[in-house]
Amino acid sequence: MPTQTEAPAAATAQELRFPPDFWWGAATAAYQIEGAVAEDGRTASIWDTFCATPGLVAEGHTGEVAADHYHRYRGDVALMREIGLSAYRFSVSWPRVQPGGRAGENPAGIAFYDRLVDELLAAGIKPAATLYHWDLPQELEDRGGWTARDTALRFADYAAVVAARLGDRVQLWCTLNEPWCSAFLGYGAGFHAPGRRNPADSLLATHHLLLAHGLAVQALRAAVPSAQVSIALNQGAVRSLTDSAADRDAARRIDGLLNRVYLDPIMTGAYPADVVADTASVSDWSFVRDGDLAVIAAPIDALGVNYYAPDLVSAAATPHEELSVYPASQDITFHQTPGPRTEMGWTVDPTGLRDVLTTVHRRYPDLPLYVTENGAAYDDKVDADGRVRDGERIAYLRAHLAAAHEAMTAGADLRGYFVWSLLDNFEWAFGYGKRFGIVRVDYDTQQRLLKDSAHWYRDVISAGGIAA
Ligand code: FCB
Repeated sequence: MPTQTEAPAAATAQELRFPPDFWWGAATAAYQIEGAVAEDGRTASIWDTFCATPGLVAEGHTGEVAADHYHRYRGDVALMREIGLSAYRFSVSWPRVQPGGRAGENPAGIAFYDRLVDELLAAGIKPAATLYHWDLPQELEDRGGWTARDTALRFADYAAVVAARLGDRVQLWCTLNEPWCSAFLGYGAGFHAPGRRNPADSLLATHHLLLAHGLAVQALRAAVPSAQVSIALNQGAVRSLTDSAADRDAARRIDGLLNRVYLDPIMTGAYPADVVADTASVSDWSFVRDGDLAVIAAPIDALGVNYYAPDLVSAAATPHEELSVYPASQDITFHQTPGPRTEMGWTVDPTGLRDVLTTVHRRYPDLPLYVTENGAAYDDKVDADGRVRDGERIAYLRAHLAAAHEAMTAGADLRGYFVWSLLDNFEWAFGYGKRFGIVRVDYDTQQRLLKDSAHWYRDVISAGGIAA
């Protein structure tokens, strides 16, 4: 286990201090920034295929070039150093390392991450590697993708390859990023690759993703006994519209399908009984085999929490006809939480981050936590003097850091915070229209420009905290 960090120093009226060994990070993902989709042996992932299908991604955008990070990683690490990051969370592209999803390794593909990790260490930045940020090799999807149990076994093999090559230097592993998105958006609702729309498949995929996580934990520990292993979950604050029993039950059900169905098996070795009962009309869960849950519950060293906005739900008077993102939830309505919104339409509500961290801490008090993603998209403009005055993003980040600090004061063992994102990048089905970076990317020239938020973050990092 990582060592317990000191509790945050008491906040004065002026400032919120974080522990001296707090990780100040930023995060990205392979398909969103790398480009170079056909270089050095890389083959297609499900996102290449999804992007190539007309009508699925805004304006037909693709990750073909993205932020060209594959060629510009040295300069990007120099920017990280300029900002003063102590950690950088990136993801490894499975089809770069195992083209076609085949066993073994592609030396040219893994060599890119080898160089990146060395570059980070030379800059004094801790590498935090995510093994799967949604770019499944297309050939594995052709064989069933995450609805096929074999994909979990293939993932363990891939994890072992990456661990053998990078395990001596990576300081924090995330097995999966947001398996809820892979399963529910990818297989249930079809908004994400591979674009399948079958509620039962979202539960099947959930189980195989969790099995893949557990097998990867084993593979990482076998290769690197001292590995620090986590998973990044999009845990959310699910609130009920009113205090009525029906609305509170709707919130319980969504909390089950968003949060507990992922965290509970990992932490306790059992799926929540209420979730299994709630989804009985869609699935009998017979895909869970003897021994699977013991694999899934392999101890982790920390949990990564990705947080953007809370959810607000109520019971619907009559079931919706359109497919729900959540299986067996046609009778639940989602509402917009009041308050200002980001360019994604997501409500800015930092109390949700505080609540998520304190809830996880209350349920699993000994679990070290990282905020592995948090940030906001805004319609940034470059001013005539060449500056991006993204004050709204600064306000968002400041408020969420304060909320994280509040959770720490309440006892949550939070070790670090990663801004989403270091760079403007390919925002999945929204394409390049949504800019989350603290560094602007001009997609015509690939020039980088530190936004005001990056300068602000640099000051926060060097001060070890924020002004209250
Ligand atoms: C998260 C994803 C990340 C990014 C942000 C905005 O769900 O993990 O890749 O798209 O949302």
